[in-house]
Amino acid sequence: MKVQSHTLACVMLVFSTFGSVKCGNILVWYTEASHWINLKPVLETLTDRGHSVTVLLPNVTLFMDATEKNRYSYEMFNVSLSLDELSDWMDEILYFTMYEMDKLNMLELYMKSYQIIGKDLDLCLVYCDGLLKSESVMDKLRKGRYDVLFVDPIFPCSELVAETLDIPIVYTLRLSIANTMERLCGQSPAPPSYVPGAMSKFTDKMTFSERIWNFLFYVSQDALAVSLWKKLDAYYSDYLGRPTSFCEMMGKADIWLIRTYWDFEYPRPLVPNFKYVGGIHCRPAKPLPKDMEEFVESSGDDGVVVFSLGSMIKNMTKERANVIASALGQIPQKVLWRYSGEKPETLAPNTRLYDWIPQNDLLGHPKTKAFITHGGTNGIYEAIYHGVPMVGIPMFGDQPENMVHMKSEGAAVIMDFNSMETKDLVDGLKAVINDPSYKENAMRLSRIHHDRPVHPRDEAVFWIEFVMRHKGAKHLRVQAHNLTWYQYHSLDVFAFLLAIIALVLFIFYKILKSCVVRCCFRSRSKSKKE
Ligand SMILES: *[C@@H]1O[C@H](CO)[C@@H](O)[C@H](O)[C@H]1NC(C)=O
Ligand SMILES: *[C@@H]1O[C@H](CO)[C@@H](O)[C@H](O)[C@H]1NC(C)=O
Ligand SMILES: *[C@@H]1O[C@H](CO)[C@@H](O)[C@H](O)[C@H]1NC(C)=O
Ligand SMILES: *[C@@H]1O[C@H](CO)[C@@H](O)[C@H](O)[C@H]1NC(C)=O
Repeated sequence: MKVQSHTLACVMLVFSTFGSVKCGNILVWYTEASHWINLKPVLETLTDRGHSVTVLLPNVTLFMDATEKNRYSYEMFNVSLSLDELSDWMDEILYFTMYEMDKLNMLELYMKSYQIIGKDLDLCLVYCDGLLKSESVMDKLRKGRYDVLFVDPIFPCSELVAETLDIPIVYTLRLSIANTMERLCGQSPAPPSYVPGAMSKFTDKMTFSERIWNFLFYVSQDALAVSLWKKLDAYYSDYLGRPTSFCEMMGKADIWLIRTYWDFEYPRPLVPNFKYVGGIHCRPAKPLPKDMEEFVESSGDDGVVVFSLGSMIKNMTKERANVIASALGQIPQKVLWRYSGEKPETLAPNTRLYDWIPQNDLLGHPKTKAFITHGGTNGIYEAIYHGVPMVGIPMFGDQPENMVHMKSEGAAVIMDFNSMETKDLVDGLKAVINDPSYKENAMRLSRIHHDRPVHPRDEAVFWIEFVMRHKGAKHLRVQAHNLTWYQYHSLDVFAFLLAIIALVLFIFYKILKSCVVRCCFRSRSKSKKE
């Protein structure tokens, strides 16, 4: 029945559009948290266009929900891990990034990151085992006749499944630390002189000392990545039965959909199979629930402030919550705060707590004056879409980096979660709300965001369909993938040319020397005769 209705939808679509639309079979890699939120709109658009979409789903997951009503189907696999182990692990990362990280020096941070990412990879390999070593699931996938694998590469091993099924890969990602995956595996060029390493917190305008730090950042993160990926290299080689590496396999991907755009990203050189599709999930605002709309309207001319620290931060220490709540009480605006922890004692009457808020609809509301955010890419893009200035309280991952971008565009101020006092937050909010430059800059980014040939969601879908139609996009893949590092930087050419110059100089020197000797000798012998 399901197959029939899918076929029917597909046939109708073929007749209703003039381009030749071939309905395909799309396999989607498992992921978590905001990464999953970001995939969903693309999957929905793909099913709208008549494709059949199947999402790989581990039986242990914190965010993906198989019971949720969707038009795509799930393919379950088992992993030998308990839900408690997974959530303990998440809590450990959150605690480290929220409270511990700032207290460490560079070396300690480096060591601790090594340890944490190493543990993360071990956990990822448990998922790989669950999927790749299950004969029944792999058999089903082989029989599924998929056309493409759509992947957020935050969880590895998708390349092994694509290789086994002999299908192309389309990646979607925000970033990897210092763009290690994009640069080392995707061959995306990034001159350290003006492309700040992702998560270095530099902008594209760097002083001499910042350029030194940026350069060292690239080198140190590359060393970290390459040594950590050794684990994956061994797993990949073992599975395929031939020596290979994680990076080499990633390099075979056909298209990389990067989830930012030039309203956010500093201009940089691109390779043709990298497409910037930031704002995939952004939509016009829908009306608010009735009681929320009444609360928002009750704010009068002062308007409202929307406050969310994202889906991961549900709780914070009492002390931090009180500092924040008393700051919110000192502004004339009404505040809608997404917070499911204990109610802070200092909570003022202008602030309401919610377990969940329709964030996009609130940001699109004409009464919204500012957005207090943890700086996740999804939230930032909703704010850009609706032109709302931001107060960033970044927590972990790419969030500090994201807020640096928005600050450098003049659309945000940044607070430090651990050290900020009530007065800091009040000052930040007042600046963003009362100084018109923040709103103007947010509106400028919004205009850039909206002024593009197609909606980013449609562009993402276009490239997935392109890869299905052409069984890959190898014509967009640069030859850099086939070069060694010294060939890539033309070091062998330099060496060769230097050798020639040296040889010429040497011959020249020899000729000159013998000439000088002969001339002098002759002139000396002449003068002796005289
Ligand atoms: C997953 O494990 C359950 C029992 O825990 C079993 O019934 C099911 O068949 C397994 N699924 C797969 C795909 O192996
Ligand atoms: C997932 O499946 C594995 C293997 O069947 C089982 O050991 C584990 O308890 C399951 N986890 C959950 C949360 O169902
Ligand atoms: C939030 O954290 C506090 C301690 O900081 C704890 O007492 C409380 O139970 C936590 N609440 C939730 C909902 O996790
Ligand atoms: C590039 O390398 C790949 C495998 O690494 C190989 O299949 C391909 O033929 C090479 N292409 C060229 C043009 O040498």
